[in-house]
Amino acid sequence: MRRLMVAGNWKMHGTRSSVAELLKGLKSQEFSATVEVAVFPAFLHISEAVEALRGSGIAVGAQDLATQSAPGALTGEVAASQLMDAGCSLVLIGHSERRQVIGEDESVLVAKFKAAQEVGLVPVLCVGETLAEREAERTLEVVGSQLDSIIDALGVEVFTRAVIAYEPVWAIGTGLTATPEQAQDVHKAIRDKLAARNAEVAQGVRLLYGGSVKAANAADLFRMPDIDGGLIGGAALNADEFGAICRAAGS
Ligand code: PGA
Repeated sequence: MRRLMVAGNWKMHGTRSSVAELLKGLKSQEFSATVEVAVFPAFLHISEAVEALRGSGIAVGAQDLATQSAPGALTGEVAASQLMDAGCSLVLIGHSERRQVIGEDESVLVAKFKAAQEVGLVPVLCVGETLAEREAERTLEVVGSQLDSIIDALGVEVFTRAVIAYEPVWAIGTGLTATPEQAQDVHKAIRDKLAARNAEVAQGVRLLYGGSVKAANAADLFRMPDIDGGLIGGAALNADEFGAICRAAGS
């Protein structure tokens, strides 16, 4: 049985005071023990989140990391080992905003994935197609090739210690959610693709859905057989809404 996961990606949001409020709100939520809950604050707020959430069962992750795992002379970057030292257990890799806006390519993502695992951080690899790619019926090809970059470079077994988040780019921050059936189709294709290489890895890996998930649509998404939780953006900035999404995963 895969344990569901609900992860909140706070992106480049928050001030010290709004983050303190959000953390306080999260600590007052009731979470089901069957769901793994995680938040991904901006680097600046990681220490504050780790302190505040100690003992709460909520894990803290980072939104990015350097391509090398060890500290060194790399101005402005944060190493995987520093994230571990700060109390992170997870890290996002390949979010569409980093692929498209920052311009991270597959070789950078492979290096980051590897750096994370070298120190024991669990990568949450984000994949997903743009609207133009969906309309051209290229969704599975695009998502498949994003997965292949990691599989070809590092082997399918790396997914025993990773999470995959399917996030259609057209659904991120737009209010447009993939229907549960649309999401399930892609999740099943991802699992089948991994199963063709290693059935055990495919059965065990958690596949999160992301893109305009809210309390109102979460339960229908999480009910699908290959959707093992969600990666939540906007709705994760509200503790009550995020709590409700986590409870939808636990019900
Ligand atoms: P959203 O973002 O929930 O605001 O659509 C999801 C994400 O980017 O991870």
